[in-house]
Amino acid sequence: MTRKPNLLVCGLFWGDEGKAKVVDFLTENADIIVRYQGGANAGHSVETAGKRFVLHQIPTGILHENKTCVLGAGMVIDLEEFFAETQGLSHDGIQWQNRVFISPRAHLVLPHHKIVEQIEEQRKGIGTTLRGIGPAYRDKASRSGLRIGDLLLGKTHVISKLDHWIDDIGFAYTKTFGAQFPSNEDVCRKLLDTFSPFAHCVRESYAFLHDYAKTRGGILVEGAQGTMLSVNWGTYPYVTSSETIAGGAAEGLGFDLRLIDEIVGVAKAFCTRVGNGPFPTEADDATQMLLRGTGEKSFDEFGSTTGRPRRCGWLDGAILKYSCLINGVNTIALTKLDALSGIGNLSIATHYKNYDDMPATFEQLATVEPHYEKLHGWDEDISNCNSYESLPQNARDYISKIEDISGCPVKYIGIGPQRDKTLTR
Ligand code: IMP
Repeated sequence: MTRKPNLLVCGLFWGDEGKAKVVDFLTENADIIVRYQGGANAGHSVETAGKRFVLHQIPTGILHENKTCVLGAGMVIDLEEFFAETQGLSHDGIQWQNRVFISPRAHLVLPHHKIVEQIEEQRKGIGTTLRGIGPAYRDKASRSGLRIGDLLLGKTHVISKLDHWIDDIGFAYTKTFGAQFPSNEDVCRKLLDTFSPFAHCVRESYAFLHDYAKTRGGILVEGAQGTMLSVNWGTYPYVTSSETIAGGAAEGLGFDLRLIDEIVGVAKAFCTRVGNGPFPTEADDATQMLLRGTGEKSFDEFGSTTGRPRRCGWLDGAILKYSCLINGVNTIALTKLDALSGIGNLSIATHYKNYDDMPATFEQLATVEPHYEKLHGWDEDISNCNSYESLPQNARDYISKIEDISGCPVKYIGIGPQRDKTLTR
C-alpha cells in the first residue's frame, strides 16, 4: 500500500488567514485531522452544501464522512463549548460519535479562567477573545492546571485540584481584585456532568498517530491562530499563549515532524488582525473599508469567534518571508484572492526599510517602515476561473511577487468561499 502524504497547515500572519477552508479542501485526501494548540479562541469557518459551519475546537475534518479528529495534548479544552459544538453537529445531522478523540494531557479551561481574564484584560488591553485561554495556559506552565485525564479520576480528586487552584491562584485575585469564583462543588459537578458523555473520547494518541503517519499516511495536522500570534515568535505581548508555529506540533502532539511531507503555510491575499498590537501595514480607513467588506457577506472581515471587525492592510512581505522561514513552509496556500478583484491598484510591502530581521519587541515593531511596491489590480470576477492559467495576468503577477518575496511556491489559490473554489497548481 502506498503511503499517503502527511500534511501540516499553519497560519503565516495573525490568524484568520482562511486556514479552515484550506484544511477542509485538503481533508479529502486525509484520514485523520489533528489539532495541536489553542482552544475555543479559534473560529474555523467553512462553507459547504450552501451552509456555513463555524467550529472552535473540533477540527473541521468532522464535516467529512469517515474522518477521525484528534484534539491534542497542547490544547486547552472548554468542555461546555465542546458540548455545544457536538450538539450543533448532531443538529445538522453530522455523526461525530467515535470520530473525535481528546488527549488526556490536554488542559481544561475552567470558569475561573474567564473571570481572571476579564480582570486582566481591563489592565492589559491585549484584546483577547475572553475565552480563558491565557489563564489556562498560565496555570499549565505554573503546574496548577487541571487536565482532561483528571476528570477520569473522579469527584474527590477534581475537588482537591480545584481547592489547590483557589489556594495557589484564586486567593490572590480575590484578595487584590475582589474576584468571586463559583464554589468548587458546583464547578466540579458541572465539569463531571458535562464530561461524562465524552469520557469514551479520551484517548492517548501519540503512538497511534506515529504508526499511522509512518505506515498509511493521511495525517493532516492543523494549527490554530497564526505565526504572529505565537507566544515565542509573534508580536509579544499581543499574542495568544500557545506555540502556533509548525514546531508547536512536536510539542503539542508529541509528533515526529520528520513524518510531515508538506508544510502548507496559509496567507490571505492581504493582511488582517483582530485584537490590539502592532500591525505594520495597517491601511488608512478608506482602504480598510475596501478590504474588509461591509459585513453583509459571510466572508467579509469580521471575526468568526467574536464578530469584531478585523483591522485590514496590505500584504506584509517582511512577515511572509519570516513566517515561511520559521515554519519551514514548503508551499503557500493563498486565500481570498477573489476579494482583491475590482478594488483598483494594489500594494505589497516587500520589506522593512529600517530592519533586516523581524524585530523582537513591541516597541521596535511599532517603528518599522514598510517599503511598498505598487501592482496593477484586475477587475474581472475570478471566482469561476478553473486554472491558474485562466487567472488575469495582473493576478498572476501578484502571485509571482508573493513567490519572489517568500521564496516559496504558491500551490493553492482561494478564489471563493466554497470548498470547490480552490485552484491547485
Ligand atoms: P487569546 O488567544 O484569546 O488569549 O487572544 C490573544 C490574541 O490572539 C488576541 O489579539 C486575539 O484576538 C487573537 N486571537 C486568538 N485566537 C485567534 C484566532 O483564531 N484568530 C485570530 N486572532 C485570534
